[in-house]
Amino acid sequence: MRDDAVLLGRDGVDDLDAILELRSDPSAVLRSVRDDAPALFTWDYERSRAPLSKLYEKAKSAQWNATTDLPWDTEVDQEMLAATSPMQGPEMLAASGVDLTGTAFERWSKADWTNAAIEQQNWTLSQFLHGEQGALLCSAKIVETVPWIDAKYYASTQVMDEARHVEVFARYLDEKMDGHYPIDPHLALLLDDVIADSRWDITYLGMQIMVEGLALAAFGLAQAITQEPLLKQLLRYVMSDEARHVAFGVLSLKEFYEGLSDAELAERQEFAFEAAVRMRDRLVGREVWDRLGVDPKEAMRVLNPFGDDKNADPFQMLLFSKIVPNLSKLGLLDANGGWLRTKFDGLGVTQFETWTDTTIEYELLDAVTADREAEASEASEAS
Ligand SMILES: [Fe+2]
Ligand SMILES: [Fe+2]
Repeated sequence: MRDDAVLLGRDGVDDLDAILELRSDPSAVLRSVRDDAPALFTWDYERSRAPLSKLYEKAKSAQWNATTDLPWDTEVDQEMLAATSPMQGPEMLAASGVDLTGTAFERWSKADWTNAAIEQQNWTLSQFLHGEQGALLCSAKIVETVPWIDAKYYASTQVMDEARHVEVFARYLDEKMDGHYPIDPHLALLLDDVIADSRWDITYLGMQIMVEGLALAAFGLAQAITQEPLLKQLLRYVMSDEARHVAFGVLSLKEFYEGLSDAELAERQEFAFEAAVRMRDRLVGREVWDRLGVDPKEAMRVLNPFGDDKNADPFQMLLFSKIVPNLSKLGLLDANGGWLRTKFDGLGVTQFETWTDTTIEYELLDAVTADREAEASEASEAS
């Protein structure tokens, strides 16, 4: 297996200087990435993959309309929204033993903390938006590159889902929030790698397993925390689609990875590690600190999502709670002497290994929804 210097382009996985070196270009309107994957026709139209077929049927009936199904006339108070931000304020920091004396935050007023939480939310929702566009391009790429007809059918419904997700986040940011951020450079790097790769399964691994796995966890946390009714409903709708997308990734790759050699699995393990690090690096959110006039290095030192266990933010770690059990289900934690498990130990995320994977979670969710629909239709027939 290759070492961190080759995989990440830096010696230390926690090298903050190298992480902060990457900058996004706020003036860019287009980003061009060369897609090196061959487009595949298949003449085998037999629908032999029942689980994918079932997901496709589900996706067809679960479509919703972003324009008419969400209460866009809801008034959103950004300060109230920020009050439920996961950004830790001085009280929470003090409770976890962080001393702000002598730091840039020592003299921050309540208004400064509120402003920081608003910026953090603008940044987070902007990254959701850009990530959704990444998913739109990646699912379109899967339609072209995957060799199985059932997967082409399903991925085509995901293209529509992702267009809707881009639409709702763009509209929410435009109409309800005050200020966009460009794509985080670490997220951009990961999306570039996924689009450029010639192997069709790497699109799934990068997007459905890693990016969408993280998004599913992030949306779930945001949905549970926010009291803002429009955002709450929007996230609930988006999440119901995302759970299906991640399940699509796990089901497809489970079959494919069972047939790969150790050497081929090693390449996937390295890719998953690199992707996990890119996604963790983006949590630095340097653009927010630049806008707030705080040295990002100092912000990281005080509010650190990295580093030793006592400083690792459990909220940030939870973002990996979907990715790790899914990679475990795919056999990528165990392959090649458990290389990826050891690497994830270093990132502090292996505790999620035994959590429920998304295919099981999706089936449970699906069963609950089916029960509710049956109850509702029985009730309407009785009345
Ligand atoms: Fe999405
Ligand atoms: Fe998705």
